[in-house]
Amino acid sequence: MEDKGRSETEIFDELHQFKTKDMTHRSGKILGSMCTCPHPIGLNAFKMFLESNLGDPGLFKGTQAMEDEVISSLGELLGERDVYGHIITGGTEANIMAIRAARNTFKYNHPDCEDINIVVPKSAHFSFKKAADMLCLDLLEAELDENYRVDINSLDELINENTAAVVAIAGTTELGKIDPVEKISELCLERGVYLHVDAAFGGYSIPFLNDMGYDLPNFDFRIPGVCSITIDPHKMGLAPIPTGGILFRKKLS
Ligand SMILES: Cc1ncc(COP(=O)(O)O)c(C=O)c1O
Repeated sequence: MEDKGRSETEIFDELHQFKTKDMTHRSGKILGSMCTCPHPIGLNAFKMFLESNLGDPGLFKGTQAMEDEVISSLGELLGERDVYGHIITGGTEANIMAIRAARNTFKYNHPDCEDINIVVPKSAHFSFKKAADMLCLDLLEAELDENYRVDINSLDELINENTAAVVAIAGTTELGKIDPVEKISELCLERGVYLHVDAAFGGYSIPFLNDMGYDLPNFDFRIPGVCSITIDPHKMGLAPIPTGGILFRKKLS
């Protein structure tokens, strides 16, 4: 640490040196990123709320009301306005929150179960490895079919009495594939297992592609077995980075 403070000019000169090493979305040279150039209105809106801390919602009642409204409108985009959730840092945090909720519900109903597992497709984002690690869960990986979507039979074989959650992906990280969520939902309802859909990437693109006339499969709360959905406004949603979203069908205590 330096003894004396530095001038604003020096600080910004140094920050600019770091910044010039970055690629920019506006350059048109970023081809493989699912995060998008934030919209100018989004940037200004983001700046307005930089001092709000929703860890203390009593102090920031307006921000809390706004988050509630954003969650409802994201829910509406995904087939059910009446949902619960949070705006957070991104898909990783959202997936960890969903798996934690599923794990806690499972533990409540099965207090003696020690070797709890979650079943994810082999195409799942590595945030599920982090979630399993942090929450001390076994991670079971289901095979993919010839179209790189999860193989239902493989999923079915892996689910057992210790399974706290099954994950389906709507927009896989590498290929944008959408798992057969309707069939997975039937399986989960039949086996009594929590179903989380990771639509971090697809949540902000699939509904709009369908509006444009594409016929992409359903993946959202219109499917009865879907308990929670990750949707990231910073992936294809033009929101400033970081902005993630987690939605739950039910309020879990
Ligand atoms: C399908 C999917 N889920 C989750 C994530 C994690 O999102 P984040 O990088 O915002 O934590 C990604 C990131 O690429 C993703 O593609």
